[in-house]
Amino acid sequence: MRVLPDLIENNRKWVASVNETDPDFFNKLSQGQSPEFLWIGCADSRVPANEILGLMPGEVFVHRNIANVVVHSDFNCQSVIEYAVSALKVKHIIVCGHYGCGGVKAASQNHHVGLIDNWLRHIRDVRRKHDEVLLKIEDENERFNRLCELNVIEQTLHVCHSTVVQEAWENGQPLSVNGWIYGIGDGLLKDLNVTIAEPTEIADAYRVAVNRTA
Ligand code: CO
Repeated sequence: MRVLPDLIENNRKWVASVNETDPDFFNKLSQGQSPEFLWIGCADSRVPANEILGLMPGEVFVHRNIANVVVHSDFNCQSVIEYAVSALKVKHIIVCGHYGCGGVKAASQNHHVGLIDNWLRHIRDVRRKHDEVLLKIEDENERFNRLCELNVIEQTLHVCHSTVVQEAWENGQPLSVNGWIYGIGDGLLKDLNVTIAEPTEIADAYRVAVNRTA
């Protein structure tokens, strides 16, 4: 039985189209990578980093998980941040969430899902932390969207507090950490104005971003 019938064929067509534009593209890529950006986003199939940013292979280092969560004890995510910052010397980290995130939705409800509950616990903590503000938002969808935004803001803060980013700043390495959110319905990115380029900016940027609608 043939499985995955179209994907290899798709790949051949894609290679042909890239080679048509730049015959040396793959040869150059094989020499190494020096992306300027690290993208930390949701695993959702509708939120692919390269396509959204209009970037080619080699231009963005990517880590994705359910609901773009950054946990200090997650060696997968922290290792990606370390490699991106210490070895590749990316200049910008983008934590990007999206409206309508299934992970955030599940975390905003109280019923038991399964193993993933342990992961969603991190987002439930965000919800609990901002409960007072969230409960003031009457429209359910608006409240859900705000939780998606607050999750990005909190995870952006976690990136800033990571040992790797703190050390990079201590060493004077230029590095900005940004929180963005993506609209699946219109394809547009929105800056949540939580851009932090040095430790002294963390408190103010966080306060302003969190209190935006409060
Ligand atoms: Co999502």
